[in-house]
Amino acid sequence: MKILLVLYDGGKSAEEEPRLLGTTENKLGISKWLADQGHELVTTSDKEGSGSEFRKHIVDADILITTPFHPGYLTREVMDTAKQLKLAVTAGVGSDHIDLDAANERKITVAEVTGSNVVSVAEHVVMTILSAVRNFIPAHEQVMNGGWDVAAIARNAFDLEGKVVGTLGCGRIGYRVLQRLKPFDCAELLYYDYAPLPKEASDAVGCKRVEDRDEFLKRCDVITVNTPLHAETKGMINKEFLSKLKKGCFLINTARGALAVAEDVAEALESGQINFYGGDVWYPQPAPGDHPWRSMRNHLKGGNGMTPHYSGTTLDAQRRYAEGTQEILKRFFNGEKQEPANLIVENGEYATKAYGQRNTKTEEAKEQVRTD
Ligand code: NAI
Repeated sequence: MKILLVLYDGGKSAEEEPRLLGTTENKLGISKWLADQGHELVTTSDKEGSGSEFRKHIVDADILITTPFHPGYLTREVMDTAKQLKLAVTAGVGSDHIDLDAANERKITVAEVTGSNVVSVAEHVVMTILSAVRNFIPAHEQVMNGGWDVAAIARNAFDLEGKVVGTLGCGRIGYRVLQRLKPFDCAELLYYDYAPLPKEASDAVGCKRVEDRDEFLKRCDVITVNTPLHAETKGMINKEFLSKLKKGCFLINTARGALAVAEDVAEALESGQINFYGGDVWYPQPAPGDHPWRSMRNHLKGGNGMTPHYSGTTLDAQRRYAEGTQEILKRFFNGEKQEPANLIVENGEYATKAYGQRNTKTEEAKEQVRTD
């Protein structure tokens, strides 16, 4: 079979660090394994435009593997040219770079390595929340730049204790963020999600579900966004959404860049409607040099906690999603069933309830949220 692997280039870092498996140099550690079985592997980072290697090789590829960090965008138009494609694997979590409805029409299976980097992202979120509330980033910048002005930092620094923190989307990542925040004695830990947590799961962290989204937005001092990108969530963080937040809210988005309207976020930060925006996801990726999130700041010249997309690609996460990808391929080659939690679409149907409310019993609790 022909397998097309779209990854980012690791350059010198990948040469020096073989655990950087998610790079074109280290090929998820699966190139020899595939060659030994007689499969053809084509690896590229060149993914944009009709003349790209991605577009050239997708036409006769049986399997596409890509990551959310440097995604080969499998649009309907690209799928029209991919006549042999049977399986699209996301080495990581989040398959919104694929037109899932178009994949269903063509009966292409979409699988991801569910759970592989959810702890990695949850830790990044907790780090970003603390950095935000305590005004850490401008403080660090100040000393690196040779300054010393305690008041200029302390005027916008708070404790997390006593604040209301909420997750918009409470699946594997959102739940893990709340779990990790429990010892901080927040005033309330809240979540908004169309699917409720099992009672034991919410009791274990002492969190409460808010059923009305506007009410949720109004109550939180800190919001972490953890919903997949799909038709209902695309562009949801817009002017209207931002205007419903408590003034000075700290907003963290490690889910997907396209959940937000970039200019609206920058404007809300500059006007003081939000105190902070941070996370690691952008649209498109790589982010262009003039993306507003690269330079936006609040009126005190802080409030920006953006990084490149790396929260879910720590070396530990890379090992897990590389191993998980190999397991998905092994099952596919052997004609075995995939792990149900890894399936996004199969046989022309959505296999997950996370990408919108279609055909779902919305009040059904998510039994797997703690264990996957
Ligand atoms: P999950 O499938 O376990 O949880 C997603 C939750 O969002 C589900 O409980 C679902 O009911 C809820 N949801 C969906 N649409 C919603 C809506 N409109 N309103 C409220 N809730 C909604 O997924 P998981 O593992 O927690 O990942 C979430 C997302 O995080 C991924 O889809 C991906 O986009 C992103 N992610 C980012 C990474 C990074 O490196 N920054 C790495 C891994 C995931």
